[in-house]
Amino acid sequence: MNKKQLSASAAGYISLGGKISVHRLGFGAMRLTGEGIWGPPKDRQGALAVLRRTVELGVNFIDTADSYGPHVNEEVIAEALFPYPGDLVIATKGGWNRPGPNQWTHDATPSHLRKAVEGSLKRLRLDRIDVYQLHIPDPVVSFEASVETLAQLRNEGKIRLVALSNVTQEHIERARKIVPIVSVQNRYSFADREWDYVVDYCERNGIAFIPWFPLGAGKVAGEVLHQIAQAHRASPTQIALAWLLRRSPIMLPIPGTSSIEHLEQNVAAASLRLAEEEYEKLSQVPELAATR
Ligand SMILES: NC(=O)c1ccc[n+]([C@@H]2O[C@H](COP(=O)([O-])OP(=O)(O)OC[C@H]3O[C@@H](n4cnc5c(N)ncnc54)[C@H](OP(=O)(O)O)[C@@H]3O)[C@@H](O)[C@H]2O)c1
Repeated sequence: MNKKQLSASAAGYISLGGKISVHRLGFGAMRLTGEGIWGPPKDRQGALAVLRRTVELGVNFIDTADSYGPHVNEEVIAEALFPYPGDLVIATKGGWNRPGPNQWTHDATPSHLRKAVEGSLKRLRLDRIDVYQLHIPDPVVSFEASVETLAQLRNEGKIRLVALSNVTQEHIERARKIVPIVSVQNRYSFADREWDYVVDYCERNGIAFIPWFPLGAGKVAGEVLHQIAQAHRASPTQIALAWLLRRSPIMLPIPGTSSIEHLEQNVAAASLRLAEEEYEKLSQVPELAATR
């Protein structure tokens, strides 16, 4: 792959709510924190370099959350990239807190979400957050109350576009009665297809689908992935990303990494095209795994 081809633009564009257009291969910044998504990254200079290389490679959609670090991830993004390139979209999240390494607690109460948005604005050094995602519905808070708060923050000009994460189709439908929803971020890969019906729903409704954990796990997935990767002289991660890009035009993968080498590999996947039978073989992995 020559340097000219190495650009996220090779994945094409995706529109977020008809308002913003970004390249269809983004970057998930979560890894650029300490062990257990807690505290600062071990190699801060390395993390800054990865983020700067990300935008050099044409990536103009970066995913983060107030809970990554917590706070550290947003601060590192601002340190690396502020003042931001004009086309860069930062999508952050709130409503799921991180009280310690590898721990999560819910808080999507209206008062917490308001504080969370104010905190993200400050750390990201923004007047308005382009995409704000409810990180996960809070089981003890009315889902409508959480979404209404984000809709109000949008009306106040603090958020441009509202989005959801870790939701079902029913959640999306309920949220859309309150405010337009521009993207949905759920766990998804060729080998992990619990949310296939949500991908289809998003496609029908022009909502971007942002898959996290794009590689997929399991023995059968690994075997099929390696076989196809060898044929393309590509890495398994690149093949998994190429499958996602082909799965639907509303798919916006955000592979994360703390390594420039891996970042360049992941961006190169934007130019990789799978043959029909390769795509089908990967698509059949969940059924194949169930019969073994
Ligand atoms: N909404 C949610 O609830 C939720 C949950 C999880 C994640 N996310 C978001 O989704 C993004 C992606 O998450 P994820 O779980 O898929 O991945 P991730 O946590 O960002 O980590 C990806 C892993 O794959 C490795 N990797 C990346 N590229 C590679 C390559 N080319 N070759 C070999 N290894 C590679 C990374 O290691 P190296 O650092 O060594 O490359 C890392 O261990 C996150 O950054 C975050 O923004 C959201």
